[in-house]
Amino acid sequence: MTAVPDAPTGVPEDLPLMRGVELSDLEATTLLDQAIFGRDSYSYTVMRQFYDLYSRHFLVVDDGKDIQGYVLAGTAVDGRSCVLGLGITQDRRKRGLGRRLMLGVLDLLRADGVHTVRLSVAPENDTAIDLYKSLDFTTEGGLQKDYFGPGGDRYVMLRRL
Ligand SMILES: CC(C)(COP(=O)(O)OP(=O)(O)OC[C@H]1O[C@@H](n2cnc3c(N)ncnc32)[C@H](O)[C@@H]1OP(=O)(O)O)[C@@H](O)C(=O)NCCC(=O)NCCS
Repeated sequence: MTAVPDAPTGVPEDLPLMRGVELSDLEATTLLDQAIFGRDSYSYTVMRQFYDLYSRHFLVVDDGKDIQGYVLAGTAVDGRSCVLGLGITQDRRKRGLGRRLMLGVLDLLRADGVHTVRLSVAPENDTAIDLYKSLDFTTEGGLQKDYFGPGGDRYVMLRRL
């Protein structure tokens, strides 16, 4: 298990553990992703393949009973990374967990020499857009029509590490 040190942002001691994903977390993480993203969620098969490729940059929040959130970044050999997933279970939002996961994965990516992180976000997802802006991501260009196919418009946001 890889425990990830908290960023020095005054995170309260009583927050659940943020740690590196383990194989045994994948079922719960897939169910969490499906509950959040529905038809756009990842299957267990895809999660397993992400785990095989990107487990160094795949973190979960674990309260000792349940997985309450996860973040996952995929990195190319040229040092560009993409946030492939971020989600907090509905009843644990607005407690700083999403920010904590993002700070944690950005620290890991930086330590591994990643220089650029991109992500895509739905234009109506003000919560996530505000979070990313507060973490110094900036929007690249305007709204990208049909980024994820018909009706899947997205903003692409970028941060250099
Ligand atoms: C986006 C998400 C991960 C944020 O997680 P969270 O744990 O609730 O967020 P945090 O408590 O860490 O809040 C971080 C920041 O998000 C923004 N934020 C959080 N809740 C918000 C709300 N209701 N309205 C507007 N902004 C909000 C704020 O900028 C907040 O900063 P602050 O703590 O300085 O106020 C969570 O809402 C979620 O899982 N949403 C569904 C999945 C999703 O949209 N994932 C991102 C796909 S691109």
